[in-house]
Amino acid sequence: MSSHRQDAVRRIAAPDIAARKGGVPIVCLTAYTAPMAEILDEHCDLLLVGDSVGMVVHGLPNTVGVTLEMMILHGQAVMRTARRAMVVVDMPFGSYEGAPETAYENAARVMKETGAQAVKVESGPTVVATIEYLVKRGIPVMGHVGLRPQAVLVDGGFKAKGKAGEERARILEEAKATAAAGAFAVVVEGVAEGLAREITEAISVPTIGIGASAGCDGQILVTDDMLGLFDWTPKFVRRYGDLRAEIGKAVGGYAEDVRARRFPGPAEIYFAKAG
Ligand code: KIV
Repeated sequence: MSSHRQDAVRRIAAPDIAARKGGVPIVCLTAYTAPMAEILDEHCDLLLVGDSVGMVVHGLPNTVGVTLEMMILHGQAVMRTARRAMVVVDMPFGSYEGAPETAYENAARVMKETGAQAVKVESGPTVVATIEYLVKRGIPVMGHVGLRPQAVLVDGGFKAKGKAGEERARILEEAKATAAAGAFAVVVEGVAEGLAREITEAISVPTIGIGASAGCDGQILVTDDMLGLFDWTPKFVRRYGDLRAEIGKAVGGYAEDVRARRFPGPAEIYFAKAG
């Protein structure tokens, strides 16, 4: 059986997201695993299998080391349980920045092997032509401007962008070019609030903000950040939970019970049948 069986529930697709421009804000979160996707699905319009998986799940220092195989594996896991939300898979560093033909082969592989509805690329100046190439060949693409995590090595760190001058103008132009190339939505990450608003007004497809502005057409956060799984999060994250403390409490309780031989108890063990 295919790992991406579709069932009776109609899944949200790229045109549905595109049509939400200026409407009720689009709710997006990252998802990397089947159980988490199952929980998030009913609350979210779009689940992003972000290449942040490299840092969040695999402990990498940045997203540069993430491979196509990792993205496909996590994309498949999410597609097994997400039923309603649109699923978008990030194209990892090195899989799309070269020739558009190579980007197409890699993106088509992601689409076929995961069953996801779209891919996301970080839209640096050289990538715009590739977005057009992919969209014309049937692959819905989400863009990503502003702070581009895959550019962390040339940028010298994760720094907010577009606070002034030339950089501000360049990001605005990149967003416009990304939309003009056919992207159905554009993630706007880590930019000055006014710039995020200006981009949102300037382009005809939805902007999805992260560290950007409440004026964007939707919002996304890294799920593990907003659940409070880490002891540090960037300024733009609001913690809606404290899973780190919850997990510590639960695991501490388990450890105490094991050491005191309170676990397993009678209800948690098997007994031979009488007679
Ligand atoms: O990889 C990711 O999780 C992302 C979002 C934070 C937008 O690109």
